[in-house]
Parts: sequence; structure tokens; C-alpha cells
Amino acid sequence: MKRSWWIGAAMLVLALASGGAAQENVLVLYGSPDRDWVAAVAAKFEKDTGIKVQWIRASSNEMYARIEAEKANPKGDVWFGGTGDPHFDAAEKGLTEPYCSPKMAELREFMRDPIGECRTLGLYAGPLGWAVNEGMLKKLGKPMPQTWDDLAKPDYKGLIAIANPNTSGTAYTTLVTILLMKGEDKGWEYLAKLHKNIAQYTKSGSAPGQLAGRGEVAIAIVFLHDSVMFAEEGFPVKPVAPADGTGYEIGGLSLIKGAPHKENAKKFIDWALSPETQIIAKDFRSFQLQSNKKTPLPAVVLKHGMDFDNVKTIKYDFLWASKNRDRILKRWTEQIFSQAR
Ligand code: F6P
Repeated sequence: MKRSWWIGAAMLVLALASGGAAQENVLVLYGSPDRDWVAAVAAKFEKDTGIKVQWIRASSNEMYARIEAEKANPKGDVWFGGTGDPHFDAAEKGLTEPYCSPKMAELREFMRDPIGECRTLGLYAGPLGWAVNEGMLKKLGKPMPQTWDDLAKPDYKGLIAIANPNTSGTAYTTLVTILLMKGEDKGWEYLAKLHKNIAQYTKSGSAPGQLAGRGEVAIAIVFLHDSVMFAEEGFPVKPVAPADGTGYEIGGLSLIKGAPHKENAKKFIDWALSPETQIIAKDFRSFQLQSNKKTPLPAVVLKHGMDFDNVKTIKYDFLWASKNRDRILKRWTEQIFSQAR
């Protein structure tokens, strides 16, 4: 009698487990690049694998905050894209876990394993720069800016937009770029001056490009692939790379620790690193350099001369950027953002 009770209970557990597994043929995707591309990736993965995708899009640092808040009870499986710095910091803090994808051998070397031990993988890369509304500058009788120092001159007061680094990875990349180029003391002085010139802080990193395109500001600090995107969409903006050098991002791809659908998450990561998947990015005006060696750089980036070979980039220290993230964001918020403009 006792024995048959156990067998019955065990069968019930098995039935529930297999029924549960069938219902669990899903992937919860947390995406940080532009919404259209994330939506397209979700739809393609569903079509290619039959795995249902539930997805959301949030800016890099917003997504980081969400993953951190869900730490005790993770809801997301994979974090797709967004600047690397918060991915690297999430890895350091144990919010994500290493996954050595078999696709890694196919990736461009600098994106293969950016902080080591497969703690996050490179999905794409792109240099930082500006989208400049030349017509507006001409009308105002202002010169074309050439260097980062130019942007902090009183000439451009109220004419620049950038995102808020507390939400946006693009803006955080800008802070780190300046601090690395100038050193901390001079860098913070510079950021205080730049703040005086900012007309608007947006939530997402690419949004300032639209403001420049609509003539609400003359200069947007954005990734150059986003600047190319706005120019190609017909906005009157010109992608400009700072002549004195600039930072760049490596977009991250990470497995969230405690992912409820871990096997699907690994499947997704392998799939996302294949050239067949990466090639669709350009169809949704995402013009980053994709990580798989077989995925060519979109021709429009070359047309505008905004590829890595033509843009002077600095040695961006990803580990420093991620290890100092909390401190830099706190200092910027308390000492710079709080100041009147
Ligand atoms: O998709 C465009 C893009 O610039 C990515 O290259 C980048 O990783 C992401 O957006 C950053 O967005 P945000 O600044 O909103 O975090």
C-alpha cells in the first residue's frame, strides 16, 4: 500500500514536470539595442527554433538595474546587447554567469572574450562620436566642432544633447572616454564644463540624434553607427568623429545567472553569434560592426567613413570602466548633474 502511494506520487511529479517543461518552451529576452532590431531578433529566433520569445527593451544601465533588482528571483534568461561596461560589471558582481559558446572561435578577436573566462561575449562594436546638424550651426554662425575640447566651449551652450549615464550605456561610455583621455582631475573639470552646454539629457543613448535631426539641438553625442542611422534616415545630420580620439563600445551578450530557461538561453547565444542572425541587424538600421568574422560591416558605415579603420580610437579600458561604474555614476550625478546649467 505504502509502496503504491510512492509510485503514484512519483508519477504525478514526473507528469507535472514534463507538462511544465512543455509549457516552458520559452525564452525571456532582455534586449538593450534599438527596439526594432530586438523585436526582429525575437521573431527570427521564434521562427528558427519554435521557442516562444518574451522580450523587453531597456537601455543598458536601466536593464542592469532590472537584472540586479531581480537577483533573488531572476526572470530574464539572456541579456542581448547594450554597451559592454554594465555587462562586465554584472559579470563581476555575479549577476550573470560564464558561458563559453562554441561560436566563440568564429568571432573577431577583440570581441571574442572581452574580459576573459567567457563572462560575457561580444555581440558588436562601434565607436563613439557625434551627429551634427551642420545647417543649424551655420545659421547660428558657429564653427563645426573638431575635438572634445571644442564641445565644452561656451560657443555651444544649450546646443548639445546626450543621454543620462544612469540609464544609458552610450552616455556612460562618454564619461569613461573623457576620464581616460584627460585623466580624472582634468576629466571631471571638463565634464562640469560640458554639462553647462547640455540642452537636454535623454533616457536612451540614440535619442539625442533625433533631437539634432529635428534641429532642437545642433550636436548629439551618440555612437557613430547611430549617427549614420539618422543620416541614412534622411535627418540633416552629419556623423563626425572627434579628431582627438574617442572611445568605443563592445556590445555584450550574457547569460543571466539563475536563468529560468537556461538551455534555451545557451541555444539563443549560439544562434545570436552566427552570421545568418547578425546579418539582419542592418535591415533594422543597426549598423554596428557585428562580432562574427563572416558578418560584413554595413556598407553605409564605410560610405560615411565611420568604420574603425577611419576613426581614431583610444585604448578603452573595459575593466576599469566596469569596476569604477558605481563610483563614476554617483560622482557625476551628485557633482555634475545636480549643477544648474
Ligand atoms: O542600438 C544602438 C545602440 O547604440 C547600441 O549600439 C548600444 O549598445 C545601445 O544602443 C546603447 O543604448 P543606451 O545608450 O540606451 O544604453
